[in-house]
Amino acid sequence: MKYKENARTLTYRSVPNLAQSQTVEKHVESTADGGAGAGNKCLSDPARGSDGTGGTGRLQRAPTYSAFATIYDKAMGEAVLPSVLDAFSESRNRFAISTDSIADIGCGTGRFLKYLTRFNGKLTGIDMSRAMLKLAERRLAGADVRLARMDMRELVLPQRVETVTATFDTLNYLLSSTDLSKTFRRFATALAPGGTLLFDFIPRGANKGATGGTQHVELGPVRSEWRIRIDPEGRGSAVAIIMHRDDDKVLPLVEVHRQRWHDVGEVKRLLTASGFELLDCRPAEPGGDGNWLHVVARKTGQTGAPL
Ligand SMILES: C[S@@+](CC[C@H](N)C(=O)[O-])C[C@H]1O[C@@H](n2cnc3c(N)ncnc32)[C@H](O)[C@@H]1O
Repeated sequence: MKYKENARTLTYRSVPNLAQSQTVEKHVESTADGGAGAGNKCLSDPARGSDGTGGTGRLQRAPTYSAFATIYDKAMGEAVLPSVLDAFSESRNRFAISTDSIADIGCGTGRFLKYLTRFNGKLTGIDMSRAMLKLAERRLAGADVRLARMDMRELVLPQRVETVTATFDTLNYLLSSTDLSKTFRRFATALAPGGTLLFDFIPRGANKGATGGTQHVELGPVRSEWRIRIDPEGRGSAVAIIMHRDDDKVLPLVEVHRQRWHDVGEVKRLLTASGFELLDCRPAEPGGDGNWLHVVARKTGQTGAPL
């Protein structure tokens, strides 16, 4: 397994999805604040005021998915994986999806890649977080998986693959339709003709009525406070995760994570415009409420510039 550092400057911010994390629910003590300040304006900086100083005060800013990476699996990754695997298996059976070569985009700590190793195909994991990739590297030690640090909006693979996957809201971290369109085109270019793209996402209008709140999560020695803002129109969310250690040996850190919840019609239009035929768009979990969708799309032509 090779870990390749990509030198691009990465400033992207992302947000984990609380709605699908049973583990988080198990560990949190919810103290909803009535969504004070929810809405687009507050999505810009939910960390403000969280330290009692009216600003970020003594909190040290950390890049998204840096400090949080250490608790990501326990906080949410483990809880979501079974749903991700079920959706993938169902689509694989229904649409005869190839496992010969797969690029998992936003591979995080490599849980899904680890599952994919059973098919003995060529595997590539892409993520922009160094910390998440380090954990993936550890998890996949000894497996024949190529890992690379890259922004999915600029995705370039050395060889075309049969299948591209992006699980657990990875595409919600794209904050504009321009970025979504750009990314779909990069995916199309990365795929062999007839190749398949599978991803899940939170659609616009999800979690109707939710406005946010504050949750306290304790995992091992790490205590964290999650200040969640949800746009009342369901256009997205922003979460400031403030992390402490029990022994207070390190300064409190704050990571701000943001998601855009994409309009379903826009996703379908952009997929078609990027050279995909939509095969399926269904609730990501059986009997799901439509707040989380699983999409399967097939590349129809020779979209995108040659590699
Ligand atoms: C919620 S995690 C999902 C991780 C993994 N797919 C899973 O199912 O556990 C989202 C991942 O997307 C990555 N990510 C967010 N924006 C990205 C971008 N523009 N390019 C590459 N990776 C990105 C984050 O670093 C993070 O590891």
